[in-house]
Amino acid sequence: MWTLLRVRASESPMPRSKPVEPNPAAFLQQEATAPRASEATGFVSLIGAGPGCPDLITIRGLRALQRAQVILFDALLDPAYQEFFPAQAQTLAVGKRCGQASVGQADIHQLMIEHARAGRRVVRLKGGDPLVFGRGGEEAEALEAADVPFEVIPGVSALLAGAAGAGFPLTHRAVSRRITILEGHHLPDSAAAWRDLAASSGTLAVYMGTRTLQSLAQGLLEHGAAPDLPVALVEQAQCPGQTSTFSTLAHAAAGALHPVTAGPGILFIGESLNHRFHPTSEVPHEPAAPVSGSHREARARGGRRERRAS
Ligand SMILES: C[S@@+](CC[C@H](N)C(=O)[O-])C[C@H]1O[C@@H](n2cnc3c(N)ncnc32)[C@H](O)[C@@H]1O
Repeated sequence: MWTLLRVRASESPMPRSKPVEPNPAAFLQQEATAPRASEATGFVSLIGAGPGCPDLITIRGLRALQRAQVILFDALLDPAYQEFFPAQAQTLAVGKRCGQASVGQADIHQLMIEHARAGRRVVRLKGGDPLVFGRGGEEAEALEAADVPFEVIPGVSALLAGAAGAGFPLTHRAVSRRITILEGHHLPDSAAAWRDLAASSGTLAVYMGTRTLQSLAQGLLEHGAAPDLPVALVEQAQCPGQTSTFSTLAHAAAGALHPVTAGPGILFIGESLNHRFHPTSEVPHEPAAPVSGSHREARARGGRRERRAS
């Protein structure tokens, strides 16, 4: 146990991606100067891909991706990301795929370690941010335990994508000075935990909560939350077909709020949702790769939809 530990990035023994070059032209020519994986050990980049729209990956993440020799990517990531994969890279879709066989977590660790030990530059591309409900921490621990050098490049998590896309602040000086992040598969399991949650003034953001949102709303109401508290379900945030549905806690508890797309959804609850704004985009965001059928349909509808649950 330590009382105070201070570590500067520059003291880290690990090679890491170079900081962003402010000149975009120079950025595009970085390949020649980018840090190379050591012949002996290789290197792993755990990269946050963002919420599903390839143009929301970070520049640092994109640079690391474009240097990859091996890419392990989440099976559920939009195929449009593959536009950025180097042609010669070995690629493998891994991770959860509903109802279908998938590569298990231990095998993912093993694959990263083996490829890196063979001297390859490996990318593990994960949806959103690797360290938010993404098992990036477990992967980093496995790499560290195996003495494989690695870096973690953050991504735009669904929480940020959802609020910016639907148009409300996550914090607000007057009504929300706290953000609580929950995983919807595991709701509070005691009356005390429910009371704490219901009393937490601030914004609740619930990942993986579309199936349990009615139980969550009922639990919050039963433990003292206000029935008129605003609730929003943002589906496919920042992607073509983004749909935001606004309602209240009472309506959600009554079963009036439910997903309307097959894409991922994130739930928000809190007063800050009353401070809505309506972002417009001069240039519609385009997927990087050729437009697929579903993208085309979404764009024909104007790309984004907003609903009020009745
Ligand atoms: C396994 S978690 C991964 C979260 C990811 N690491 C992140 O930082 O966003 C998957 C959940 O994230 C949320 N999610 C991911 N992408 C989303 C999107 N584009 N729109 C809304 N919710 C999203 C959904 O709640 C989904 O069930």
